[in-house]
Amino acid sequence: MKIAIYPGSFDPITLGHLNIIKRAAVCFDKLIVCVLVNSEKRAGLFSYEERVELICRVTQKLPNVEVDCSATLLAEYAREKKACTLIKGLRAVSDYENEMQMALLNRKLNPRLDTMLMPSSGKYTYISSSVVKEMARYGADLSDFVPREIIDDVNERVRQRRGI
Ligand code: PNS
Repeated sequence: MKIAIYPGSFDPITLGHLNIIKRAAVCFDKLIVCVLVNSEKRAGLFSYEERVELICRVTQKLPNVEVDCSATLLAEYAREKKACTLIKGLRAVSDYENEMQMALLNRKLNPRLDTMLMPSSGKYTYISSSVVKEMARYGADLSDFVPREIIDDVNERVRQRRGI
C-alpha cells in the first residue's frame, strides 16, 4: 500500500491546500494530511484539534484521505505510519530552496522517505493561510481563498479575537 503524508500548519486549510490534497490523493492508496505541531510558532488562529476538524470537514468526500496531528519529527512520523512519500506544495520558486533542504534532511533521517514537490495550481499561487487571516481581519470575501464549508468558522474566529 502506497502511503503519502501531506504535512503543514493548516491554520486554516486553504483552497490551495485542498487542491494539493485532491491531486495527491489520486496518486496514492492513502494520503495522510498531518497538522504538525510547531512549538516555535506562536498560538495560531485555530487550535491543532480545530484545524484537524476543519480539514476533516472539507475532505470528508475523499475516501482515501485521513487527517491527523503530530508533534513528532516528520521523518519519524512517516516511519511509524509506513509512509514512503512526503507531499509538499510549491507556490513559488522561492519555496524551492527550503523544501529541497528539508527533503534531503528527511531522506537522511529516513532513507525510505522521498519527497514530492507539487507545484500549486496557477490560480492558487497567491493564497496562503497568512493571507487568509489578513483578508478576514479586513472583512474581505473569503470565497476565493478557503473552502466554503469553513468560511464562517474563519470569520467568526477573527471576530472573536477582535472582541466584537
Ligand atoms: O504549512 P507550513 O507552515 O508551511 O508547513 C511547514 C511544515 C510543517 C510542512 C514544515 O515546517 C515541515 O516540514 N516541518 C517538518 C518538521 C521536522 O520534522 N523538521 C525536522 C527536519 S526538516
